[in-house]
Amino acid sequence: MRDTPARPVRERAPARTLDREQNAARLLRASARHSFDPETEIDWDAPIDPDLFALPAHRVALYGTPLWESLDARRQAQLSVHQLASVTSAGIWFELVLMEGLIRHVYDGDLTTRHAQYALTEVADECRHSTMFARYITATGYPSARPTPQAHRRGKLHFLLNDTTLTFAGAIFVEEFTDAMQREMVRDETLQPLARAVARIHVIEEARHIGYARPELERRWAAMGPARRAVFRRGLLVLARLAVAELVHPRVYTLAGLDARAARQAAAENPHWRQARIDWARKAVEFFTELGVIDRRTAPRWRRAGLLG
Ligand SMILES: [Fe+2]
Ligand SMILES: [Fe+2]
Repeated sequence: MRDTPARPVRERAPARTLDREQNAARLLRASARHSFDPETEIDWDAPIDPDLFALPAHRVALYGTPLWESLDARRQAQLSVHQLASVTSAGIWFELVLMEGLIRHVYDGDLTTRHAQYALTEVADECRHSTMFARYITATGYPSARPTPQAHRRGKLHFLLNDTTLTFAGAIFVEEFTDAMQREMVRDETLQPLARAVARIHVIEEARHIGYARPELERRWAAMGPARRAVFRRGLLVLARLAVAELVHPRVYTLAGLDARAARQAAAENPHWRQARIDWARKAVEFFTELGVIDRRTAPRWRRAGLLG
């Protein structure tokens, strides 16, 4: 009688799980090598030069409009700082929603996997980012890190929806968008040093988050049926539109002494501002299009939302 071969202690994981574990292990190694503590890494007490822009001028929502021309150079610079502070407060809002989604993901998973361990590592990154963003907002004199009441309510709705796949897709959109904006800031040496220091840390650490979310969305999308995909396509567009609408809080204009309603209207019609959003959304939109999350039927809606050229 032939010996029965010894059974392996553990069944071999399917290739997909292995890939997922290998990717997480790689991201954990990168996190161990390149993580920053903004509390000590950034000189928070350095004075801020009121004449320096925080964003390139052509990326300010009012750039090129008559309202923009009505401001002197220093007030234009201040408007760019307040716009960045507003974008930063939207970033905090999104990071809090994302952290909740990642915790939920770990709760549903098994913390002995590298995949779940990386999710917690990302939460740790986002905790430092949100605190760093809040310190930046305080340093600029911008009065609040709270989102608009509408975004606040929608964030709570997302907690109730409990959709982890949408959390990952939303993360890809927001992280790619922010990444594109912040890379421009890191490259532009004329900008405010504090804003660039914050951007630099964020760019380095967010590259890992995108490397975690992309394959996770690919796996989840592949497992989705047509009906669920149709709902998901709409859900993601709603999320992307809301995230972008939240970028410039109306108080940015009030602080500049402008009529908020007129300024928002001017920004909405400003081709420079439309181009900025298209440029910053490009990588996420390309990825979603390759995957089929944006298809022929939904692409026109992304175009109408000013997120696709
Ligand atoms: Fe972040
Ligand atoms: Fe992130």
